[in-house]
Amino acid sequence: MYTQGLLEQGSKTVTVAAVEDAERLQRFEAKIDAEEKIEPKDWMPDAYRQTLIRQISQHAHSEIVGMLPEGNWITRAPTLLRKSILIAKVQDEGGHGAYLYSAAETLGISRAEMIDQLLAGKAKYSSIFNYPTLSWADIGAIGWLVDGAAIMNQIPLCRCSYGPYARAMIRICKEESFHQRQGYDIMLKLARGTVGQRRMAQDALDRWWWPSLMMFGPPDGASQHTALSVRWKIKRFTNDELRQKFVDFTVPQAKFLDISVPDPDMRWDEAAGQHRFGEINWAEFHEVLKGNGPCNRERLTARRNAHDAGRWVREAAAAYAAKHTARSVAAA
Ligand SMILES: [Fe+2]
Ligand SMILES: [Fe+2]
Repeated sequence: MYTQGLLEQGSKTVTVAAVEDAERLQRFEAKIDAEEKIEPKDWMPDAYRQTLIRQISQHAHSEIVGMLPEGNWITRAPTLLRKSILIAKVQDEGGHGAYLYSAAETLGISRAEMIDQLLAGKAKYSSIFNYPTLSWADIGAIGWLVDGAAIMNQIPLCRCSYGPYARAMIRICKEESFHQRQGYDIMLKLARGTVGQRRMAQDALDRWWWPSLMMFGPPDGASQHTALSVRWKIKRFTNDELRQKFVDFTVPQAKFLDISVPDPDMRWDEAAGQHRFGEINWAEFHEVLKGNGPCNRERLTARRNAHDAGRWVREAAAAYAAKHTARSVAAA
């Protein structure tokens, strides 16, 4: 498509460049069709590179910001075991962020640039982390629903056409599955507990259900990036397909807990073999994305403070690395 745009300019040089680009594009797409991975040194269309930078950096930011709502409960976990599990989980999320920033860096953007975009409020991260964690049951609901939705999204990404992203996702998915299980285990304990604990579990599901469905992004008809991402195998399923899988997977789990999904329109469609569910409040989703969710400002302030407080560590690490480089150059 852009090849034609270049040809229309009429210059001979541009025409040659355009033909070369068309050939490269053809080779690139043939590789993708053959299920081969695209690696950092391979030629790739700019739209592919930019889509991946956007997606991987948003994913990395989500992991890092996602540490905040749960970190809020580390000091208040009900037992020592729950506390150590939660610390391990939050630490995993930090590791996921680090892998993903590294994967994005292979596409030619630096970690510092990505962090600057986040702290300036220009980069997006998952809307779900702008909701507050009001009770211990929220930690259960996050593990069960939010990490559950993440797995649904991320398992297909292990087969993403971009090698570094696909490889990072393999380990991440293994850890996400532990996160989902620990969350469901918290919910199970509460759901089989006292009347008050059951009420906490239900209240957490009531508040986290709809934001979890929003995690899959806008409906396919309104999603700008889906078609090209599917063609280039960055995405294997559309937002709506993944959302449907998540609902079909999660509703029976809620039944097992004997708590109800807060959707009066939820019903099993025998003929389709799927659950039908009610309309998502997209106005709320867009408000949260625009920065007007319950905790957007709090989350960004926390990240900015952490970045400022960590400046001396970055400076010390850079000074240490420079000293070592100077020494090895002198010794050589
Ligand atoms: Fe994660
Ligand atoms: Fe997780």
